Amino acid sequence: MIDADSLRLDRISKRFGSIVACNELSMEFRPGTCTAVIGPNGAGKTTILNIVAGSLLPDLGSVKWNGVELVGLRQDAIARLGIVRMFQDLKVFDSMTVYENLLAAAGRAPSVIRAWSLGKVKAASGATIDTVMQRLGLTASANRLVRDLSYAERKLVALGRAMCSEGRILLLDEPASGMDKTSLQVVLDAVISLRESGAIIIIVEHNLSIVQELASHALLLEEGRIIAAGEPAELYRNSNFGRVYFSMQQ
Ligand SMILES: Nc1ncnc2c1ncn2[C@@H]1O[C@H](COP(=O)(O)OP(=O)(O)OP(=O)(O)O)[C@@H](O)[C@H]1O
Ligand SMILES: [Mg+2]
Repeated sequence: MIDADSLRLDRISKRFGSIVACNELSMEFRPGTCTAVIGPNGAGKTTILNIVAGSLLPDLGSVKWNGVELVGLRQDAIARLGIVRMFQDLKVFDSMTVYENLLAAAGRAPSVIRAWSLGKVKAASGATIDTVMQRLGLTASANRLVRDLSYAERKLVALGRAMCSEGRILLLDEPASGMDKTSLQVVLDAVISLRESGAIIIIVEHNLSIVQELASHALLLEEGRIIAAGEPAELYRNSNFGRVYFSMQQ
């Protein structure tokens, strides 16, 4: 089912001592779209994802989705609403197998939770996990411990966990970093199909060609403010982008 509602951030502010990580940020993310948040190190990109996911409280402002105010909700309550986060540093269970990692995530999926009441949970989660493993090329690694996998494979497991929990809002923090070409293509295809299934995707990514491939809209952040926004290729031609991006290359 496609959620008709956008996710809306309204005048979000967050300071860490003298650092202003978010400065009265307002933005809207629509279902079935991927929005990229780009900008130099320390611009406040990860802070936005942390605030949406509930791992950080803003000082001021609101985050609303489907009529629900997310600010003040506990992180697990936000996750149960279908808001899934993929961390810049991977959060996977190293001492569990690939299958077990996905099973733990599938337990949060609405269709699997519905199946509980019908006594069909094993079939529901099993079907989801098999499909996700196939799509990500993880089927042959199903019974391997995650700590024995390569970094790229571990990243695919993290993405698989997001897919298994049937997230409606996916917060992806640098999903492409450290990926080889083949695994990167698998990630891109998976994100595109999640987007096409009606999910809201917010991606923080330094690789501009990936931003261009996935996102229809990009927000350029600098010191907690949006300094330019638009279709990625158009944004890259913006003079602010040139200045900020050039300084990133120093
Ligand atoms: N928990 C924290 N305590 C103190 N300062 C923090 C904390 N989290 C973030 N900051 C600071 O807030 C600013 C924004 O950080 P944030 O992690 O959002 O940046 P970013 O845009 O994701 O950068 P990067 O591209 O390096 O990942 C930075 O100056 C950072 O040092
Ligand atoms: Mg970051």
